[in-house]
Amino acid sequence: MMIKISPSILSADFGALREDVIKVEKAGAHWLHIDIMDGHFVPNLTMGPDVVKSIRKDSKLFFDCHLMIDNPEKYAEKFVNAGAELICFHAECVDDIDALIDKIHSLGVKAAIAIKQKTSEECILPYLHKLDMVLVMSVEPGFGGQKFMPEVLDKVRNIRAHKDGKNIDIQMDGGINEETAAHAAEAGVNIFVAGSAVFNAPSYEEAISKILKSAEDAING
Ligand code: DX5
Ligand code: ZN
Repeated sequence: MMIKISPSILSADFGALREDVIKVEKAGAHWLHIDIMDGHFVPNLTMGPDVVKSIRKDSKLFFDCHLMIDNPEKYAEKFVNAGAELICFHAECVDDIDALIDKIHSLGVKAAIAIKQKTSEECILPYLHKLDMVLVMSVEPGFGGQKFMPEVLDKVRNIRAHKDGKNIDIQMDGGINEETAAHAAEAGVNIFVAGSAVFNAPSYEEAISKILKSAEDAING
């Protein structure tokens, strides 16, 4: 499995977003994690498709859009038109999961489902065969800089143990740093989101390479 890092711009400097995105791309990021919050599904607000469209002009990174919003089926297309290459929605706020995965695929991008700590992975297992990625949240969604919840690692193990979970990308988001990335990697995570650990570090490059190395060492022994 390819190990990748997807720095979350939630911890970037929003007043200098373009510069921060360019900087993190040069520093070795593989993907860019874009957190969309609506003040309903989570108690915080971030950005809409116009901001995504604007940073799209300055970056070749793969845009990984984490929708922490109610009614994601209404907005998925707007984010794809703005430049998202993966749409990740939360299982907790969608009635027809099957239809939304199909809709996202019909828009020509990757589809992923996120689950919060209190949501069992059982609810996404039936869709693994048609998903590109699963996001297992390791903090309560809404804010950067929170403490990693190790209890979610069992969900990753259960997903990897499933017949359709062997080759799927599993992303972990929340409290990822050099130390927690190793635990996540051991459990089966291969895509690492890191917000504060990258954007609050003096060197983005050093922060990214430390997280990647720690994950690789954990897997390769
Ligand atoms: C939280 C967001 C995360 C956040 C992670 O709801 O989904 O992507 O930016 O931030 P850190 O890495 O600081 O926990
Ligand atoms: Zn996120």
